[in-house]
Amino acid sequence: MKLNTIYSEITTRFEEVCENPSFEAKELIKHICSLNETEFLLGRNNEISVDVTDKILSLTEKRLIGIPLQYIIGEWDFMGRIFKVGEGVLIPRPETEILCQYVVDMLKGKLSPCVYDLCSGSGCIAISIKLDTPDADVYAVEKSKDAYFYLDTNNKSLCSGSAVTLINGDIFNVDEFKTLPKADVIVSNPPYINSDEISGLQKEVQHEPVMALDGGSDGLDFYRLIITEWKCLLKDDGIFAFECGENQADAISDILKINGFDSLVIKDYNDIDRIVIGRR
Ligand SMILES: C[S@@+](CC[C@H](N)C(=O)[O-])C[C@H]1O[C@@H](n2cnc3c(N)ncnc32)[C@H](O)[C@@H]1O
Repeated sequence: MKLNTIYSEITTRFEEVCENPSFEAKELIKHICSLNETEFLLGRNNEISVDVTDKILSLTEKRLIGIPLQYIIGEWDFMGRIFKVGEGVLIPRPETEILCQYVVDMLKGKLSPCVYDLCSGSGCIAISIKLDTPDADVYAVEKSKDAYFYLDTNNKSLCSGSAVTLINGDIFNVDEFKTLPKADVIVSNPPYINSDEISGLQKEVQHEPVMALDGGSDGLDFYRLIITEWKCLLKDDGIFAFECGENQADAISDILKINGFDSLVIKDYNDIDRIVIGRR
């Protein structure tokens, strides 16, 4: 079968389940055929073998039952680097790149800054900050054993030489972290979905671990904990940098204010308040 034929066929089948069927069909084919974007575009008239066709079609079936493409292909791009992902870890999202880039930019010119990434998941934030700020001491804390596996794998494969310091721990046990050096930045994209909204999320998101999503009854448990209990681990001129859900920025700014911090809110690509920065 020609590559172009199978591409059209899968795009049509994905129309039932995907917001962007042609993109997902292309990414699936590129992955199985080990093609980059240019090779895919130039190779659309090439014949592909029966074995490869069968493999593409069997993975297509997985996507059609709602398994996210990222879990099927086992990796995803974040800030231009490929992170391993799979069941048990949150898939890195494009809006998280805004948070990460803000931290990288504000660290420019600081000597040996110290950064904690709380609720680190795949490590996309911690590892990107470390790679873009090699002088920084970066600590990543993650509770889930499954997510920690990906954090460790990505840290080893992407940070050769000097890596992020990983801690498989629970950020609610703050006392266990009090021996860490004080931080210039505490960054976090914590679980922030209201507990009772999780069952209504789209099928793909429900494949992601509940531990990565559930932010308590109002979705704000982790922000309250981090701001009130972790502020003692922040340097006097240190900052909090959070990603948050739609309509949460004002409530987080209020929690920051009560705890002596001014806030700055940054919008995402869809004009939604997505990032909250707290500064004393
Ligand atoms: C929304 S995900 C974010 C993952 C990653 N930072 C990202 O942006 O892709 C939240 C992460 O917090 C972890 N987590 C949940 N409760 C935790 C806790 N009490 N202590 C540490 N990590 C926790 C989850 O396992 C999950 O990996």
